[in-house]
This record gives sequence, C-alpha cells and structure tokens, in this order.
Amino acid sequence: MTAEAATRVVNADSTAISEAATCLARGGLVAFPTETVYGLGADATDGPAVARLYAAKGRPAFNPLIAHVADLEAARALAMFDKNADRLAAAFWPGPLTLVLPKALGCPVADLATAGLDSVAVRIPAHPVALAILKAFGRPVVAPSANRSGHVSPTHASHVVADLAGLIDLVVDGGSTAVGLESTIVACLGAPTLLRPGGLAREAIEDLLGTNLGVAPETSDDPLAPGMLPSHYAPRATLRLGAQDVQPGEALLAFGPTLPPGAARATAMLSLSRSGDLVEAAANLFSHLRAMDILGATSIAVMPIPSAGLGEAINDRLQRAAAPR
Ligand code: TXA
Ligand code: MG
Repeated sequence: MTAEAATRVVNADSTAISEAATCLARGGLVAFPTETVYGLGADATDGPAVARLYAAKGRPAFNPLIAHVADLEAARALAMFDKNADRLAAAFWPGPLTLVLPKALGCPVADLATAGLDSVAVRIPAHPVALAILKAFGRPVVAPSANRSGHVSPTHASHVVADLAGLIDLVVDGGSTAVGLESTIVACLGAPTLLRPGGLAREAIEDLLGTNLGVAPETSDDPLAPGMLPSHYAPRATLRLGAQDVQPGEALLAFGPTLPPGAARATAMLSLSRSGDLVEAAANLFSHLRAMDILGATSIAVMPIPSAGLGEAINDRLQRAAAPR
C-alpha cells in the first residue's frame, strides 16, 4: 500500500478474521494480537509481501522472521523436528516459544523471510485471534513485533497504530496482550540453545528436557544478527559490488532496465528487478544468490543498488556476502 492509504482498525470479530485472511492472501500487511505482543503479519510464502513488511518496519535489516502456524501439522511442513523439538512443541505449543529448526524439504517460506538461512523459526501462538487468522488463512504467516524498528514491542492495538498507521493495511484489535514479552527462542539445530529469553522461562524448558540450554553469545532483542551467523548464506562465488561492467568469466546480477557493458558475455545473468523496484529486488535477493551457485557462477558482478529504502538492507546483505571468508 502507499503511505497515504488508510490503515483500517477493526475489532477482532469473525468479520475481522476473514478480512485479515483475505488481506494476507492479497499480499497485504495485517497486525494482530498474539499472547506475547502484537505481530505484523505477511504471507510467509510471498516474497514481495515480506519485503513490504520489512519496509513498513523501517530501517529494514532483513532479520529472519518467525513463521506462525495454527497447528503442528502445519509446522512440520516447514521444519524438521528432532527429539528435543518434538518434546518442546508437545509441552509448550501453542505458547510463547519459538523453535529454530532446519528447514524441511520444500519449505514454502520465502528465502527473504529466513534471510537465506537453512533454518526457520516457527511458532504456534496461544491467542484465539491469532489462531483464528492462521486457520482462516491456511498458510504460514511471518510476523515480527508490530513496531517501527528500534521502538518497543506493542502490547496494545493503539501502540501499533501509533507506530504503523498509514504504512500497513489492517490492525485487528484484540485488546491487551497477556504476556507482554516476546517469545523465548530456542534453536534445535544440535544441542538445544537459548537464542532469546522471553515469555517462557528457561527453567521450564530445562526441566522438561532434563538438560541445561546452551546460550548464544549475544542476548538482546535481536540476538543473532543473521549476517553474523556462521550458517548465514553466502554464495560460493565471489561478489564484485557496484560493478559498472562485466569482466570475462563473471556472471551478472543485474538491477534496473539498463545492462552494463560486457553483459552479453556474462556466464550467467539474473536480474534482481528489471524495473529497478527495490521491493522486488529484496524479494529476489537470497534466492538469486542461491541460484547463482546452482548456475555454477564463480564470480559475480553485482550492479549498483540505490541505498534508499530497502536498498540499505540489500546493500548490507550484499556486503556481508562479498566479505572475505
Ligand atoms: O513473541 C514473538 O516472538 C513475536 C510475536 C509477534 O510472535 N515476534 C517477534 O518477532 O518477536 P521478531 O521478528 O521481533 O523477533 C524474531 C527473532 C529475531 O531476533 C530473529 O533474529 C530471530 O527471531 N530468528 C528468526 N529466525 C531465525 C533463525 N533462522 N535463526 C536464528 N534466529 C532467528
Ligand atoms: Mg522485535
């Protein structure tokens, strides 16, 4: 939507639930209550919708997002559960626990929403409104806290409106959220590890598993800047950023309608956006980097990307992918 368009605020009744599902299906942005904080939802399988979500939050960083689902069957379509994950899900879902798990084969979550990682964060929220929207929509919904970047997480619909009015399509008002803290995040990618303390106490998790949780090096609101993760996706190929031409042997990652000199000899070519649209470019970024590997590119000339709007985060991720390793 455009910045001038109105944001509708509706009471969480059955009409609002179906309006939310319809809006998500059209690629819209819908804020809704969970038991922890209000989330800003987008269709997790719709890359451009996810890109617009980052843009609405402001200062977009492409931190990986939590995919919310209505039930365990839907969660298993996204991720692979080991024994610990099975036990945690059985004990604490629906509830304020997010599990970071290896992506399942054919996981439909857009690459942008997982920041190109091979893992995905999954949660079944324990809020009747959230669950009703997820059931009505029938696909996973990515939802960061529904605040502008750098602001505190919203626990009331009025907080969402204060931060995001005019930037999102719909706010489903379900009153105050009960927990008021974001979910606890545990990675089950090996020994279970606490990535973010939150609404579910660490002791409850450790008691259930009968073991202490490992702790990630940093614990803050965004504990693992995805670019810092050792597993963060970087292509095998080397990247040459801001390229004004294509050198022999290079593949081309293009942007915009005009191709640079030498484009015809590129060993492979993909465009982030032929029209120069940063939302489209963001949605394509991680999947195109992956595709370059599949195409066998060994060095990639990347055309300059403007730094406005989502361009800042796109350039940040490209710089990380280009860093020596
Ligand atoms: O309670 C909550 O969790 C709320 C409600 C709306 O569900 N959501 C929320 O989302 O707090 P957000 O985007 O503010 O925080 C998600 C956190 C980020 O710190 C992100 O780095 C981490 O989850 N995360 C997501 N996917 C990850 C992954 N694959 N590996 C490591 N961390 C991940
Ligand atoms: Mg947040």
